[in-house]
Amino acid sequence: MEINAIVLAAGKGSRLKVATPKPLCTVLNKPLIDYTVELLKETSKKIDKKINTTFVLGHDKESILAHLESTTKNFAIAYQEEQLGTGHAVKICFDQIETLKDSEYTFVLCADTPLISSESLNILYSSISEKGVDAVCASFNAANPTGYGRIIKMKTGFQIIEEKDATNEQRTVREVNSGVYIFKTSYLVNHISDLKNNNSSNEFYLTDLFQENQKVIAKLFEDSQEFLGINDMAQLSEAENLINRKKIYDLQKNGVRFILPETVYLGGNIEIGTGSVIYPNVTLEEDVTIESNVKIEAGCTIKNSKIKSNSIIKASSYIEKSIIGENCKVGPMAHLRPETVLENDCRVGNFVEIKKSTFKQGSKASHLSYIGDAQIGEKSNLGCGFITCNYDGADKHKTIIGKNCFIGSDTQLIAPITLGDEVYIASGSTINKSLPTGAFGIARSRQQTKEGQAKKFIKTKEK
Ligand code: UD1
Ligand code: MG
Repeated sequence: MEINAIVLAAGKGSRLKVATPKPLCTVLNKPLIDYTVELLKETSKKIDKKINTTFVLGHDKESILAHLESTTKNFAIAYQEEQLGTGHAVKICFDQIETLKDSEYTFVLCADTPLISSESLNILYSSISEKGVDAVCASFNAANPTGYGRIIKMKTGFQIIEEKDATNEQRTVREVNSGVYIFKTSYLVNHISDLKNNNSSNEFYLTDLFQENQKVIAKLFEDSQEFLGINDMAQLSEAENLINRKKIYDLQKNGVRFILPETVYLGGNIEIGTGSVIYPNVTLEEDVTIESNVKIEAGCTIKNSKIKSNSIIKASSYIEKSIIGENCKVGPMAHLRPETVLENDCRVGNFVEIKKSTFKQGSKASHLSYIGDAQIGEKSNLGCGFITCNYDGADKHKTIIGKNCFIGSDTQLIAPITLGDEVYIASGSTINKSLPTGAFGIARSRQQTKEGQAKKFIKTKEK
């Protein structure tokens, strides 16, 4: 039999004090709701059952729905117009989606708990199926239980009492409800309409389904961090730190060296090969692959890029949507903009900006350059201060340079332009006509030397 998962995501998340709805607020560049989607995907594989997911949407449902449609397959939504409580949110799912009642179990999760592991959800699932009870909630001992529903032990069984409704004595209890549950669907269907809102929030609490006279249990988990719920910015950055540290730990186990790991930010799908070294204050975002024995020096930002093995990215370089070959040296302070490709053994030095250009194997631009919309042939050398004039104010044009060329310092090539192989351009030239293989190009005014006349120009300060 199949399983339901209901993900509660209708609330405003007002304690975060941002315009973005909470399920779309990001932790390490990933929207919170995506963590829950991935958790359910992994859990479905682990328990080998199909999980049919329903998202309860309310506040800013359009943006959350648009996000889900672009990232997730096969889900349903239930619309909760007024947020009348977690019990009401679950009830409207059954009111709006007829087929939910046919599943054996229903998982209920929130869209703001990104640390929960599929192992724990699997343990919760085993405890409801093995113990034959009607419902199980995951509980943990909180260092600071403020804000959570307390697990209050009774003569037989327990109840969940919300913070606002608890007595001072009940508030001292540290075992709390995590907000993650599994119900027998038949139990939910039979009892969800009985919930009352006669409590201090006037809400229909899902937690009221846990009563001492019912066959329900609380499964206590050791690791309290896993159930951290994100309600404010402090909890958001706490979760971000924990997930970041976990990613770093996994890479360390794979032989990656981090120097001051607590300063490194891994905001995306980051793969790093054995023997690579990441210096302090490095930011790696979205899809980044760094192969083995690569060195990323301090203060680099790398987004959506691939760095192949044995390359060095020197300090404070910024690399976006680029591919760097093997044995390359880039930086310090290089700026590689989208669609830069460096083949193997290239060298890009300080204050060099490259955009939408390919450097064939062994080519170099070692100092102070702008190279845009260009192709640089094998083993060509671009001197200091070389510039491609690629933009005429309306359109971008291509510069093509053949192999083994030597382009002198302070040279501009006005695109569109093509240089053949083994071309030599004299320093200080502004070249606007293409040159064939083997040609020498010079385009600068002739020098005049006037002996003894320097004193006319050198002024000394009178004392
Ligand atoms: C809830 C639990 C509390 C538990 C805590 C764990 C209840 C009554 N209390 O409290 O026992 O310790 O989670 O974090 O369930 N939502 C809706 N519609 C609503 C109300 C809420 O979709 O009408 C969603 C919210 O968007 C959120 C989730 O349900 O994702 C939890 O709601 P929230 O108001 O944060 O409950 P807590 O006060 O944290
Ligand atoms: Mg909450």
